Amino acid sequence: MSDRIHTLSGYFHEYQKSIAQPEEFWARVADSFHWKKRWDKVLEWDFDGPDVKWFQNAKLNITENILERHLYTLGDRPAIIWEPNEPDEEGRTLTYKELYLEVCRFANVLLGKGVKKGDKVIIYMPMVPEAAIAMLACARVGAVHSVVFAGFSSTSLSDRINDCEAKMVLTSDGNFRGSKSIPVKAVVDEALEKTSTVESVIVYQRTKTEVDMKSGRDYWWHESLEGVSAENEAAEMDSEDLLFILYTSGSTGKPKGVVHTCGGYMVYSKYSFENVFQYSPGDVYWCTADIGWITGHSYIVYGPLLAGATSIMFEGVPTYPDAGRFWSIVDKYKVNQFYTAPTAIRALQAKGTDPIKPYSLKSLKVLGSVGEPINEEAWHWYHTHIGKTRCPIVDTWWQTETGGIMVSPLAGITPTKPAYATLPLPGVQLAIMDPEGNELTGNSVEGNLCIKFPWPGMIRTTYGDHERCKQTYFATYKNHYFTGDGVKRDHDGYYRILGRVDDVINVSGHRMGTAEVENAINEHPLVVESAVVGYPHQVKGQGIYAYVICDMKNRTKENLVGEIKDTVTKIIGPIAKPDKIQIVSGLPKTRSGKIMRRILRKVAEGNMDNLGDTSTLLDPEVVEQIIEGRVE
Ligand code: PRX
Repeated sequence: MSDRIHTLSGYFHEYQKSIAQPEEFWARVADSFHWKKRWDKVLEWDFDGPDVKWFQNAKLNITENILERHLYTLGDRPAIIWEPNEPDEEGRTLTYKELYLEVCRFANVLLGKGVKKGDKVIIYMPMVPEAAIAMLACARVGAVHSVVFAGFSSTSLSDRINDCEAKMVLTSDGNFRGSKSIPVKAVVDEALEKTSTVESVIVYQRTKTEVDMKSGRDYWWHESLEGVSAENEAAEMDSEDLLFILYTSGSTGKPKGVVHTCGGYMVYSKYSFENVFQYSPGDVYWCTADIGWITGHSYIVYGPLLAGATSIMFEGVPTYPDAGRFWSIVDKYKVNQFYTAPTAIRALQAKGTDPIKPYSLKSLKVLGSVGEPINEEAWHWYHTHIGKTRCPIVDTWWQTETGGIMVSPLAGITPTKPAYATLPLPGVQLAIMDPEGNELTGNSVEGNLCIKFPWPGMIRTTYGDHERCKQTYFATYKNHYFTGDGVKRDHDGYYRILGRVDDVINVSGHRMGTAEVENAINEHPLVVESAVVGYPHQVKGQGIYAYVICDMKNRTKENLVGEIKDTVTKIIGPIAKPDKIQIVSGLPKTRSGKIMRRILRKVAEGNMDNLGDTSTLLDPEVVEQIIEGRVE
């Protein structure tokens, strides 16, 4: 049974119902899933705790809703179509039946290695079907997966392993990405020197790179599967048992482990997938995200597979071997729904329309955008050259913490406006707040985006530190979840996301805490202090601009800048490498020692005429020096 909305009046009707009677609304949606035991109570909540429980005391296994549920009706339908990095390497297709067998077998491998319900398993893998199989096998046995994007450094990896006390790591010998082959197992080995909880590592052979295998700890994936049965009974999970932890950056300190639980996440990821993308049975759907991010979790793996969809998984990058790669894949598999990030759209836009010309793109019905605000120019380019003005664009706003899409058009149903995420999904109660914490009602208002009622896919806690969850999301505005984003509601009641209002920057759709990048820069032995801000970047959306005070010793500026970039790559990973580094003699600080980031942001943007009041600064001259030395 599908809960798909088909018309605009249907949307308004469902939305009203979801607000007037949220429990009845979500109970109806949840009733279309397979529960081992039905819930006693749909919702219990208190945003002060925060303490949110959906489908209380219900028992389920999410993989039964993906695998057993579709086995007899859709067994031969492709579940995952995998397209490798090299266009001439053969792809792979796993039907629902094949996926079922693979997940069961790998679940038995996990059990055989002593993984039990509640154990944490780190997945640090390339975009191969085994990564999805690994996630589902964890869910099958009740282990909690934590996928770490395979571009993160060994330090980022060991921090995450230590934070969740992972028992196992699933990885590969190496990864192919574009023209590069990246050693991965070596990064894991380095990370494991700084951890003590990991008992075993299973290594998927992808690049045939030579690796060290530590006896008694490291096992080859293919050898582990030898002779393993495909019979596996799914563990019975409570609706509020942990399904996964996904680390994401915030405005302070280290990344935090966002916790999602089984029942609510299952209901929300499928419901939002079907409605936003208007997926019809038999359609071929492709989301280009990496499984290391929430988009890969909810809209490559869980949402589509819960809906019985065919989901494409692509190992490579948009510009390899050329800037037509995405479009060649769209034609090859006759993709109907295509979901990507504005940064990819802008990067391809910069290559012109020639790379698109060889492809018809006739199969496309819906285009999606996610991860950062899409500028109007990119929106129009996407609409005209990829969608041929025929395909609605769903600009989907959501977050790691929300588990699924919150504000978005329903494809072909909600009228769209360039750069607008438009309207909330049913069940999503938005509030716009002014700086004093009052809700701004009516249209044509702008403020901070909050959510005032629970939805099933929402964050439950930050792993191991509930207080941090409370302080980050539930303390700014009483009884509201605060998103960290600024928003405008226009005269039509449509929402436009304006970007982060906290110290989080969004680089190529990747969330980064300025404090996190500063901490990494400060690891360089000659760095005394640093301050990082975002600035508008044509392709990445935002770039990273770092102001650094350091002891030059006998280095040249160029050498030092290079070394600092290398330090950040080593501590976090290449995605956090600053685009611009300015060596400064001081930072603009107030008398109480607080860095005036507003000034640094304006200088980085090149907006020096309007720096505001600098009279409260300890040393106003510093500003002149910073302006003079600005990196173009
Ligand atoms: O600032 C918003 C931006 O990305 C942030 C969430 O990042 P993350 O948890 O990594 O999840 C990204 C994928 C869901 C948000 O706080 N963001 C995400 N989607 C949009 C967006 N900003 C504007 N428009 C969007 N469609």
